[in-house]
Amino acid sequence: MKSEDYAQGDAFQAEKRTIFSAEWLPLCAEAQVARPGDFLSATVGGWSVVAVRDKARELRVLRNACRHQNMPVIGTPSGNCESLRCRFHGWTYDLAGKFISAPPPVAPANPKADLDLQSLPTAREAGLLFFAMGALAAPPKLGELPAYGGTLSTDMACNWKVAVEHLLGEGREGSADFSWHWPLTALRRAGSLAIVEQIVPQTFLRTRLLTHVFGGAADEHKHAAGTIKHVCERLQADRAQGVMPERGGSLLAAFQRRLPSH
Ligand code: FES
Repeated sequence: MKSEDYAQGDAFQAEKRTIFSAEWLPLCAEAQVARPGDFLSATVGGWSVVAVRDKARELRVLRNACRHQNMPVIGTPSGNCESLRCRFHGWTYDLAGKFISAPPPVAPANPKADLDLQSLPTAREAGLLFFAMGALAAPPKLGELPAYGGTLSTDMACNWKVAVEHLLGEGREGSADFSWHWPLTALRRAGSLAIVEQIVPQTFLRTRLLTHVFGGAADEHKHAAGTIKHVCERLQADRAQGVMPERGGSLLAAFQRRLPSH
């Protein structure tokens, strides 16, 4: 890997095509969208998507791309709603993404055409919701986890690969309590506690870390999440200076082998 691979949009676009379009991607904990009408929107690997639970409690992941002019329908990270109304010109969809109506000045030329939001393949695993941009085989298996305790969200000014490389760093090698699930999910177990660290690549220099805590309270992990942010932002500055990750163990090597050569 080169310094530019951590700091340029071209590399991120290549990863969007080769990784984020072709793998199961974690979106959130199912409990984050627990009630009918709950939604959670995110940009994951360059894809703008929204998880929505409908009145019958069915959970879907929809592309957050309006069928009018392809703009993001939902502009807030999470909330609860009766329907999905595009903030730009008011095209409205039900909680399953089905087109309902549009104001007369922007009405579709052919209201009988397929105007629904695109519904994506989803999978639930260990209390987490995954989605994919196309049909795929089974998602990663995380196994049984204790009861969900909450999620911390930490925004970091770094490339997603820096965050993954940090998570796969020293101390993880050979630990039976740690597992890595390509490309964006890590699971740590400590006694009755299980922590899923979910990497959300937003842009080539913005990454969100979601820390899902099972078997304990999320707030107790704020300090650890803050430390990860601090370290990752420092490592990003190193990459910008041309300092590449030191030769790591097999986990890190396996991760780097699967990256596209830009
Ligand atoms: S882009 Fe959504 S209503 Fe126009």
